[in-house]
Order: sequence, then C-alpha cells, then structure tokens
Amino acid sequence: MKKRLLIATGGGDCPGLNAVIRAIVKRAAREEDWEVLGSIDAFNGILLDPMHLVELTEERVAGIHVQGGTIIGTTNKGGPFEWPVKNQDGSWTTVDRSNDLLERLRYQNIEAVINIGGDGSQRISQGLFEKGCNIIGVPKTIDNDLSDTDFTFGFQTAVDVATDAVDKLVTTAASHHRVLILEVMGRYAGWIALHAAIAGGAEVCLIPEIPYNIHKVVEAINHRVKSGSGFAIVVIAEGARQVDGEMEFVESETPGAMKIKLGGAGLRLSHELKEAGCQAEIRETILGHLQRGGRPNAFDRLLASQFGVKAFEMVLEQKWGHMVAYRHPDIIAVPIKDAIRNYNLIELDSDLVKTARGMGMSLGD
Ligand code: F6P
Repeated sequence: MKKRLLIATGGGDCPGLNAVIRAIVKRAAREEDWEVLGSIDAFNGILLDPMHLVELTEERVAGIHVQGGTIIGTTNKGGPFEWPVKNQDGSWTTVDRSNDLLERLRYQNIEAVINIGGDGSQRISQGLFEKGCNIIGVPKTIDNDLSDTDFTFGFQTAVDVATDAVDKLVTTAASHHRVLILEVMGRYAGWIALHAAIAGGAEVCLIPEIPYNIHKVVEAINHRVKSGSGFAIVVIAEGARQVDGEMEFVESETPGAMKIKLGGAGLRLSHELKEAGCQAEIRETILGHLQRGGRPNAFDRLLASQFGVKAFEMVLEQKWGHMVAYRHPDIIAVPIKDAIRNYNLIELDSDLVKTARGMGMSLGD
C-alpha cells in the first residue's frame, strides 16, 4: 500500500497556491510509494461528514501553476482548534476538534500533512505538530508578514498589482490635478504599500510601522502640489494609523473567523486630510481583493515551485514541525514556531525605508 500525503491550503488565498500543489505532486510522483490527497477548504475536508478529499495526480495538476486561487479551496474561518458550533439558543461557540482531526488522519492512513498557509494556518500547524502530527508548513500570504523567510509566495504578485494601480492613478491624477489615495492590504505590515509606493513613484506612503502625523502629510502633499506638478499619489496600508490613532477595522461576528478585519484607512485619511486643511481635490481607491486574485507572476511561480519540491523532500526527511523558507539563494527548513513567534514587520532603519526617504518620499513622520 502506498504512503498517503495530505495537502491543505488555509487562510486567505493568494497567487501561487496552485504552483505549490503542482510542485508537491510532481515531486511525489518521482517516488514510487507515495500518493497525494487534497483536503477541500483547508482542514474542513477532513473534519466534515462526509469527508471531502480529492486525489491529486500529475494529470490533475497539469498546467495549474498559472492559475490563481487554489484548486482545493480554502477558508479563513474556523479550523481544528476553533471549530464553530451552534448552541441550542442560536448563539455560536467554538470547540477544539484537534484530537478528532488526528483520529481522522489515522483512519485515512495519512502519514504526513503539508499545510500551505499564512500566520494563522502555521499556528494551526504548530498546534498539530505539538500533538504528534507529522506536519510540514509552507508560508503563503500576500502580506509577507511571516518571519524567518525572505519572502512568502504571493507577495510579489500583489506588489505588481498594487504598482500597476499606482501607475494608472498617476495618469488620471495628473490630468485632474488631484490627490489620489490608494489603500492596499497587508494587515499589520506595510510591505505591499512600501514596495508599490517605491516602484510606482508615489509621493507619500503610510505604513503601520510608522504612525503618521497628519500635518506632516498635508505639508508633503502641499509641497508637491505647489511645486508645479499639481498632483500627488498617496499609498496607504490598511493597517496604517495616526500617531495616537487607531487602526481602521470592523470586528467580525462570524464564529471562528478572524476577529479583526482591517479596511477603511484610505477613506479615513481622506477625511483627516480635509480636516487638517488640505486644499487639494482628493479621491480614494481601495484595491482590495484584486491583490489576491489572478495569475501569479514568474517570481511567485518559481518560489512556489521551489517551496513545493522542498516541502515534499522535508516529508521524506521527516522534518516535522518545520516550514520551508526562502533565504536567498537557498530554500531551507526552519522551525514553524520561529516563523510565527513575531510578525515580520518593516524595520525602520532598513534599506527599504532609507530608499523611500532618500528619494524624498514622505512616510508621514
Ligand atoms: O492576509 C491576507 C489578507 O488579504 C489581508 O491582507 C487582509 O487584511 C485580509 O486577508 C482580508 O481577508 P478577507 O479575505 O477575509 O477579506
């Protein structure tokens, strides 16, 4: 009987998930004794009755590396440690079904699991590892906020999308002599914002790592508008906030879902600018889920393929509780617990920040 490997994709989707799945399956096919299954919608495929597992063969994954999303589905709600259950009075609670999950994996003769996901999913991987699960992590997220890897896959494609948006906003801002605000994703990190702002040539970039002073932002915009060009592009990360201000978020009511959903920083900034006396005409664009959809770029396909092959090789080496990571130019294994210990945030004295400042970009401080 062949050994069984289960793949799950968890959390928000991002470009490159299918390229990882394809690489794992192709690498596993080079061994005689492995078969690969996919769990539909993260671990729901194992935890629901009936179970929803699909066989992943080389034929099934042929050509999927160019497709966005994930062919095995995902969810950023619930999970084995916080499974939502409805009470008799209609309210919701969450229960720990991790032991049940392990039991079901044994019942299916699954020897190893590769969990492809971001911070939340890798916390689940670590929890399952501590309970004895043979699990390997693969770091995914457009936010690039996992530590111990130079990049997560999906990030570079999101930066391309955001940069393309800046390029487009420049032409309309210039034509109308306006200030255009672009809100991008990234949760508590400003990676997408700062990369796209530098690549697109924005005048102002506001990131969670540097709380902004609204008067400094107005000053920078006025200087730019009055200097003759007559327009300005402001890129703001969804987690950015004023000094002494709060991040813009809504609290989710959905059981087992992320409690905090960020969003609205761009519109808030627009009001703050007007209140602070900014005279320019302002418009706002929220880029939203466009950053997560569509085809991965070449960099992310390559990184995802490298991650997939390495993850399977880590299964062969039984490096349980480890995550694949990119340390240029190598693909290495790091303990999952190190990758989730802290968020990977932009360091204030990094060359990235120095580059932005060195070209006269205002970071609002
Ligand atoms: O973590 C990826 C991400 O896209 C964040 O940048 C964003 O805050 C969040 O997910 C959005 O989640 P949802 O898909 O639930 O709107």
